[in-house]
Amino acid sequence: MKEVEIVLNVNGKNYQLRIPPWRTLVEVLRENLGLMGTKKSCNEGECGACTIHMDGKPVTSCLVLAVDAQGKQVVTIEGIGEPEKLHPIQEAFLKHGAIQCGFCTPGMVMSAKALLDENPAPTLSDARRAISGNLCRCTGYQHIINSILAVSKEQSKG
Ligand code: FES
Ligand code: FES
Repeated sequence: MKEVEIVLNVNGKNYQLRIPPWRTLVEVLRENLGLMGTKKSCNEGECGACTIHMDGKPVTSCLVLAVDAQGKQVVTIEGIGEPEKLHPIQEAFLKHGAIQCGFCTPGMVMSAKALLDENPAPTLSDARRAISGNLCRCTGYQHIINSILAVSKEQSKG
């Protein structure tokens, strides 16, 4: 099996890896780097569970080959907050009851963060659109939307 050497920048750190060229980014994140926060579910770009940021944009990492992520800044859920110091969006999800099983949560948070980074004052329809590619089987989307809008409101207070 032919392997290739790549360098990936993930959460600000460079990783040198030797992988088969068809290995996807989500597989490399989880299985090579042990970053298990990014979830793999449908594996075909439908559910959003594997959403990460590449150069600040939300992408479904099951549809990206790891070799194509070279030269990009990859950020996963592990790169935005720590258990002792959660990101405001993570705090808001907890406060507003936006988590049940939690399987969709990392992807939801990454989509929400991308929206708020680009547009600190999103409307309800902006927020709905931002998470439209992320499926949640449990919570109902209203709590998630409420969390996004609450962070926006907090930020606008300065
Ligand atoms: S696992 Fe990537 S979109 Fe579902
Ligand atoms: S909280 Fe369970 S899938 Fe969203």
